[in-house]
Amino acid sequence: MTDFEAIRHEFPILERKTYLNSCSLGALSKRSEGYLADFVDRWHDMGASAWYSHWLGRAEELRGRVSTFLGATPHELALLPSTSASLAAVTESVEPDGRNRVVCTELDFPTLAYQWAVKPEIEVVVLRSPDGIRIDPEQFAEVVDERTLFLATSHVFFATGYEQDLNALSSIAEKAGAYSLIDGYQGAGQTQLSLPETGIDFYTTGPLKWLLGGPGLAYLYVRDALVEKLEPRLTSWFATKRQFDFDLQGFEYRDDARRFELGTPSLPTIHTALGGQEIIDEIGMRTILKRNHMLTEHLIGVAEAAGMSLTIADDEHRTFIVMIQHDDPSGAVKHLAAHDVIVDYRPGHIRVSPHFYNTTEELDLCVETLTNYVD
Ligand SMILES: Cc1ncc(COP(=O)(O)O)c(C=O)c1O
Repeated sequence: MTDFEAIRHEFPILERKTYLNSCSLGALSKRSEGYLADFVDRWHDMGASAWYSHWLGRAEELRGRVSTFLGATPHELALLPSTSASLAAVTESVEPDGRNRVVCTELDFPTLAYQWAVKPEIEVVVLRSPDGIRIDPEQFAEVVDERTLFLATSHVFFATGYEQDLNALSSIAEKAGAYSLIDGYQGAGQTQLSLPETGIDFYTTGPLKWLLGGPGLAYLYVRDALVEKLEPRLTSWFATKRQFDFDLQGFEYRDDARRFELGTPSLPTIHTALGGQEIIDEIGMRTILKRNHMLTEHLIGVAEAAGMSLTIADDEHRTFIVMIQHDDPSGAVKHLAAHDVIVDYRPGHIRVSPHFYNTTEELDLCVETLTNYVD
């Protein structure tokens, strides 16, 4: 049995605030803070020699831990600075072979479609949601064809929490000979993942949100069979086989997904991300999912009982992002913050995203405080 009350003490923000915004930024743990302090100490003590004796090892430890968490191998995982950088690395690594279309959806985070908005030679097809919550796999199947270079979309939509079916998406792309590229920033930590079993070609995520590791890093998974085939045209000295030869003429891609890397990774984040990932791994996704489902159902129940209207996915596709409809979301979020309740807003909605460290009492307080808001 996981003692969630004890786990709460790992996260100092929970003593100060009612923190319900993990889909923007996961809470910082004492463990992450301790690893960060260790990084700073070694910097003071050893300077650059800490690179070889400690820091490169920490990066590999993180790569190992995260790839296991994703059901993959370290061979298939690159460390990059942001989701946008991961997406750019992927788009710059494939040959169009006469294909000039990318299919994404209006519910994706904009940085995804922007990758091709700046490439006039590519036509971006944006699928429209029938209800503002979901996109059906059949909608992709209708338009993904021999002209499609990428089926590019989210695992979980950032504004509705709807989880898409990765296996369905990968097979639609594969049938058309297109690549499947998934923005999984809201997927990892909200779902049980075993990426090689999904058939997805590329999946990018990172520690910022549900994995409790802070900003400055992204994880790019590249399907094993593709790793050695692709030659990214965005590159760096981390992508070459003999990184420390400093040979200008000797560039040769590494045999693993590190060929997608773009230079020195964010060391502070490697430390904070390790702390967050360790905690997630220790609790286990199965336990986290059970707890988060319970919290989300509770939130939905109290919000509806208070007369609020929600924009949420059906049970089968719902994750832990709950959108409460509101006429003045920015004012309401400020009101909540003034009462130490931290949530977020998107057009027409307040976005509440509980994680395992929250309690039902915190959700009650959030709804009650929101009820008291007078525009
Ligand atoms: C689904 C999704 N993709 C991408 C981003 C942002 O990516 P980047 O790391 O490039 O800032 C966010 C939010 O921060 C997001 O929710």
